Amino acid sequence: MCAASLYPVRPEVVARSFTDEAAYKAMYQQSVINPDGFWREQARRLDWIKPFTKVKQTSFDDHHVDIKWFADGTLNASYNCLDRHLEARGEQVAIIWEGDDPSAQRLITYRELHEEVCRFANALRGQDVHRGDVVTIYMPMIPEAVVAMLACARIGAIHSVVFGGFSPDALAGRIADCRSKVVITADEGLRGGKRVPLKANVDEALTNPDTYSVNKVIVCKRTGGDIKWHSHRDIWYEDLLKVAGSICAPKEMGAEEPLFLLYTSGSTGKPKGVVHTTGGYLLYASLTHERVFDYRPGEVYWCTADVGWVTGHSYIVYGPLANGATTLLFEGIPSYPDMTRISKIIDKHGVNILYTAPTAIRAMMAQGRAPVEGADGSSLRLLGSVGEPINPEAWHWYYENIGRERCPIVDTWWQTETGGILITPLPGATSLKPGSASRPFFGVQPALVDNLGNLIEGAGEGNLVIIDSWPGQARSLHGDHDRFVDTYFKTFKGMYFTGDGARRDEDGYYWITGRVDDVLNVSGHRMGTAEIESAMVAHPQVAEAAVVGVPHDVKGQGIYVYVTLNDGVSASEALRQELKAWIRREIGPIATPDVIQWAPGLPKTRSGKIMRRILRKISVGEYDGLGDISTLADPSVVQSLINIHRGMQ
Ligand code: WTA
Repeated sequence: MCAASLYPVRPEVVARSFTDEAAYKAMYQQSVINPDGFWREQARRLDWIKPFTKVKQTSFDDHHVDIKWFADGTLNASYNCLDRHLEARGEQVAIIWEGDDPSAQRLITYRELHEEVCRFANALRGQDVHRGDVVTIYMPMIPEAVVAMLACARIGAIHSVVFGGFSPDALAGRIADCRSKVVITADEGLRGGKRVPLKANVDEALTNPDTYSVNKVIVCKRTGGDIKWHSHRDIWYEDLLKVAGSICAPKEMGAEEPLFLLYTSGSTGKPKGVVHTTGGYLLYASLTHERVFDYRPGEVYWCTADVGWVTGHSYIVYGPLANGATTLLFEGIPSYPDMTRISKIIDKHGVNILYTAPTAIRAMMAQGRAPVEGADGSSLRLLGSVGEPINPEAWHWYYENIGRERCPIVDTWWQTETGGILITPLPGATSLKPGSASRPFFGVQPALVDNLGNLIEGAGEGNLVIIDSWPGQARSLHGDHDRFVDTYFKTFKGMYFTGDGARRDEDGYYWITGRVDDVLNVSGHRMGTAEIESAMVAHPQVAEAAVVGVPHDVKGQGIYVYVTLNDGVSASEALRQELKAWIRREIGPIATPDVIQWAPGLPKTRSGKIMRRILRKISVGEYDGLGDISTLADPSVVQSLINIHRGMQ
């Protein structure tokens, strides 16, 4: 570990920053001693329709988890992201769209974006979508995806964006859970030169009877590719816009009315629909975007995430647009046409701030200096990282090659459930330690507890919890508040449990060590082992499956699956390939197993619980130190799994 390397804040960075070390300390103190006063003041950055009188009304008590911020205030998120900027910066570019094909681009001003959002909001109303209705958005990375989100927000509909890489089945499950009335999609997506059959996937998803709530499918034309058309149900986005009026008054929404649902994987069961509400979420996304990235008007900001993930919601759409920023939306992937794509986009659009994931950095790093060869990069002044722990080697490559040893890196730790960044350096305040997300943002009180819930003081390692609420926090899980309470507030009573482990050093810096539950993080994407297992056992020839994460050079974690076949089915390479393809089809390409190992049996306790600890060790060839296996129902399976693993090397 490079514990010794420390990068003090450079004087020129302090000079241009909102927050230096003294300001950080003072504001942080104030934010935790007097959260009401602190957040009342910060909330002025939003435009409220009716001002709030109450600020923080929150309880983490597991008998009564209730989280409300600014509850009696009203506002509209799309107004805050659009209308209020028109006077001062209507002609400023709001979205720079860079197509998958490097020659495709669009520049959309705030005025243009506002007009299209208003039109589409009217069009949605025309399709009988109203306040409180759920709309599923299954789109490629095109400006219309942002328009769709903001149009929902404008009329008080709740959007549920589903990542375009998810399968028809995964999409159907998410539609069924929230009973959405309308699905917005495109004919096809385009990624890395390949077409993604989005409309065909929607058609297939809607054959599932559980999706009966859907009346209309709105289809945006992206590639013009051949698609099937159901005229009673399908409508072209472009046709709707043509006839829709351009004036649409924003709906007055309560601060605690839902803005969106976003499905994410947990350690058990089906994906959870995380509920974010309007006021606190928007305030938190906006403040963190400004302070963590030191965003100044006129700068070009690029977050490489997909809008299908929370990072896209908070740091491509809501945070930047609430701040009147120019946000870059990239349709493609970093490796297409080749690994210089990120550097080329930076130079082409004069990107000042780049926010990406360690997996993309490691993919570039694998090619040495080639990804930055010939690039200028002088527009850049700040780098960010998110999604998984960044290993010091990748940090240094990022710092030296992309950042030219000039740009601070903000390693931002947060989650779908937290709405925005919770632990992060602030560029002008925090000396950097490669691999550490460093210190809490304003109002955030992290702590470490041991497995019994005892607080760990000073330097140490344990389970990462947050002991009090912040405005961006999720309020519930859609339709299942009990599951919300059970998942986050029962493990350690009275605290929000993150599911992550962390270490805190002598300087109070946090080092996230990764998930401590059965959630994997593959290329920065969250995936539940239970989800992959249940998709695997749905295959007619599979009796049982157990999934563990294994270290992977580029993806961070790879997916390793132990499979027990039905009696009489014989293992073969063809079957192995078929099972991989099966998972791609059932969940999506991001869930494709890296390794499938045949397992005559799985190590289980007498009560039937699979001992993943043992499977994790075998998958990396650590056959010693498996701990006490005598409590297993059948200890002999361990040796046979070891033998099979040896045979695969
Ligand atoms: C992991 C993504 C270490 C963590 C915003 C968390 C990180 C999960 C970091 C949430 C980071 C995210 N360092 N680990 N900087 N950022 N994680 O919900 O395990 O897709 O619990 O939200 O990603 O993933 P999610």
